[in-house]
Amino acid sequence: MKVVKTSKELGEILAPHRSAASRIGFVPTMGALHDGHISLIKNALAENDVVVCSIFVNPTQFNDPADLEKYPRPIEKDIDLLSKAGCHYLFLPEANDIYADGAEWSHSFGKLEQLWEGAMRPGHFKGVGQVVYKLFNIVQPQHAYFGQKDFQQTLIVQKLIDDFQMPIKLHVCPVVREENGLAMSSRNVRLPAAERLSSGKIYEALKLSKESVAAGEKSIEILLNQAKAILQTLPELSIEYVAIVDPIKLETFELLPENGPVLMIIAVKVAGTRLIDNMYIRA
Ligand code: PAJ
Repeated sequence: MKVVKTSKELGEILAPHRSAASRIGFVPTMGALHDGHISLIKNALAENDVVVCSIFVNPTQFNDPADLEKYPRPIEKDIDLLSKAGCHYLFLPEANDIYADGAEWSHSFGKLEQLWEGAMRPGHFKGVGQVVYKLFNIVQPQHAYFGQKDFQQTLIVQKLIDDFQMPIKLHVCPVVREENGLAMSSRNVRLPAAERLSSGKIYEALKLSKESVAAGEKSIEILLNQAKAILQTLPELSIEYVAIVDPIKLETFELLPENGPVLMIIAVKVAGTRLIDNMYIRA
């Protein structure tokens, strides 16, 4: 795998691939890679001739400076994992390369950037949209791979592609979990061992909701109370939101619709660390 440190060099490296009409697959990340990220790389490798991964801890999407400061950056380990996975290029830019023209960005994603994660982390999705727009322009992939783990982010990226009519196909890949069901996340290393284990309850809450819907439960109130009751058995856990929403606009329902896909989304704080997860409780 070749490590490429500037957008100029990456452009030069990718030019012959573009002329040869190679399919370029792209996996943007912020590093501290785990099996969730690697699953995206594997999906990209299966469907493209050339796979580019980027690692860039994007300052504009952090609303909490302390979170940005303590974001893990184990770059040698990341390079090793990507090489072993068979990734072709790692794009590892400096902030002044990505934001050489300043950090101005005014595109609005409307309501989608204000709901849920947008409400908990003001400005977060503007920052995500801004950096993904720039990375897409630099890499110009045909295929881009994102995780369902960050469900709202996948809707933002699809809207970005649509709003700017970018010729990119978004692939949303399944959530990869730890053995106890906890969704893998770069932030999990911050959890004390006991809490990391007990946070498997988040997955249990999602699974129980899915089972209840399959068994005929129609009351949103009962479904939410059940899920919250499981979460509340953890003394170190505080709930930010638990909701049942439609997977297009992320709006809540008055009544559970008779059919069609329904998503449960969860955000909690465990011992000071934010964790998010989601599941289609009906496909
Ligand atoms: P990061 O949190 O590093 O995640 C990079 C990609 O990996 C995202 O698409 C995310 O959804 C996916 N991912 C994370 N955990 C996963 C899991 N357990 N299973 C499957 N996929 C998982 O998301 C970002 O970075 C940034 O916002 C970024 C898009 C790179 C823009 O800066």
